[in-house]
Amino acid sequence: MHIHKHEVIIVGAGGAGLMAALYASQGGADVAVISKLYPTRSHTGAALGGIGAALGNMEEDKPLWHAYDTVKGGDYLADQDAAKVLAEEAVAAVVELEHMGLPYDRNENGRISQRRFGGHTSNFGEKPVRRACHSADRTGHMILQTLYQQCIKNNARFFDEFHVIDLIVNNGVACGVVAVQLSTGDMHIFHGKAIFFATGGWGRVWQITSNAHSLTGDGAAICFRRGVPMQDMEFYQFHPTGLYGLGVLLTEGIRGEGGVLINGKGERFMEKYAPKIKDLASRDVVSRSIYMELRAGNGINGKNYVYLDIRPETVNRFLAEAGETRRIDTSTVIKALAETLDLCRTYAGVDPLTQPMPIQPTAHYAMGGIPTNIDTEVILDENKTVMRGLYAAGECACVSAHGANRLGTNSLVDLVVFGRRGGMVMANYVKGVDWTPLPDKPTAEIEAEFNRIRNSKGKLKTAELRNKMQQVMMDKVGVFRKGSEITEAVEDVKALTQEYMTNITIDDRGFKFNTDLLEAWELGNLLELAHVTAVSAVARTESRGAHSREDFPNRDDDQWMVHTLAKRCTDDLYPAEVPAMELNHKKAVDTSLADLDPRFLPKERTY
Ligand code: FUM
Repeated sequence: MHIHKHEVIIVGAGGAGLMAALYASQGGADVAVISKLYPTRSHTGAALGGIGAALGNMEEDKPLWHAYDTVKGGDYLADQDAAKVLAEEAVAAVVELEHMGLPYDRNENGRISQRRFGGHTSNFGEKPVRRACHSADRTGHMILQTLYQQCIKNNARFFDEFHVIDLIVNNGVACGVVAVQLSTGDMHIFHGKAIFFATGGWGRVWQITSNAHSLTGDGAAICFRRGVPMQDMEFYQFHPTGLYGLGVLLTEGIRGEGGVLINGKGERFMEKYAPKIKDLASRDVVSRSIYMELRAGNGINGKNYVYLDIRPETVNRFLAEAGETRRIDTSTVIKALAETLDLCRTYAGVDPLTQPMPIQPTAHYAMGGIPTNIDTEVILDENKTVMRGLYAAGECACVSAHGANRLGTNSLVDLVVFGRRGGMVMANYVKGVDWTPLPDKPTAEIEAEFNRIRNSKGKLKTAELRNKMQQVMMDKVGVFRKGSEITEAVEDVKALTQEYMTNITIDDRGFKFNTDLLEAWELGNLLELAHVTAVSAVARTESRGAHSREDFPNRDDDQWMVHTLAKRCTDDLYPAEVPAMELNHKKAVDTSLADLDPRFLPKERTY
């Protein structure tokens, strides 16, 4: 067995992992970063349109307004201490990235250029504000490149194409992880004092998703099996504008530049649903509006999609109608939305300069996940008891800055703000603690599961089961939900999980580059998270943010201004039967800003 020892072990090399690695190494810690992908292929690269920060480079803006929009966008379930940290620390983080070399677009004064994004407003909802700092429509990609270079410069040690498959805990203290080296199939133990999960989301639970093939929720599922509850799993965001049929993300930056949504009757339908802010309402509102148009038969040619239109003549007509003096031209679109043009031409054969883009909502972002406090320490219960040595940030985590629905651009803010905090906190923590020894046989349980999959002789291929799960979740736990259908989904997912445990087969039984085996193991993670998502969605008998129950259409602040915490009712990592979930844990929502300023109190959301 290969054993490595590093003070800080970071799992995942997206924005949160790299920022944490940078700050932990600058704080003097010996840092290892383990990633199943080459770092610059991480999914942060798919966050296109911008990173929100109240720089005020284009017009007046304030972090308090950003915090307000974040809380309101999250339908008041956001923890307000976290939203405040996010909005305040975004400003320094964005400027710091610039100093590290990130090539932002510039405005006419040479300052970082900013564009509009959904739900971002000035003066507590008065009008849209330009807050999204961007590098064309490749912002996340540029963040990855910049941070990776900085980590290399600061001597963080990278283990690329090492796939983390288990967390090691001894006497309640996290002290390591187990990983498979892709090229050899060997298992490695990484012994650490602080373990930081930054493994991203699990969009592959759904059939139409903006998420890459690799987004299988490994970190969240690993922690869940090791006794960490999952918080607010019922809240899963559908981004309004996925490329029709494929789900590939078309950035909200397109609407930020003036793009409009058009139905089959040629109407700009968002005027009906959000008269003030229209196409730039928050994502949950826009996704539901698109579905309502489709249900009313207003899709394009009666099909299940609508158009997103950035052709200058269309946009300028609507700008003129709205009394705005601004106009766009072809060169603006080519410069600001280069990636969009490329994606549409390559994947849809559509040229956005001359044709509207066919779009449908696409599964995009998990608001729920591994519960943490604002210092990224993982918490175990409603009393906020910390698991020593364990940290998490980014999409796999739920610090709950985003509440029931995240605003666009705030994912990148979350990564850099909480990644940075995590790095600093861990650098201090490892200075003051002794090494927790590894327990006996730390790889025994995960090795048994890998042997089961490697030697399985069932009838079902991974892809068949995965497709069935994705269809169930798309149909029954999607943008609109009904109690009866979600209950069916729970049973369907349990039945698929049972099949997974007894009737799966793989073709490759070898060791080197065995992606067949790893994909089968990843499916186990997706099923685990699909199950807990559906169980959490049945329990929440209200509609809030991204969780829209047709049988409970109203928000219920009396009963449901709480976070859900779901636990697995077994200590077995891989039990023979599908484990029951316990969902009677509820954690209070932090309302620290509302305590000071009544504008942060829950109220009906209008846009
Ligand atoms: O629309 C986008 O560019 C996506 C960004 C995000 O999810 O924050």
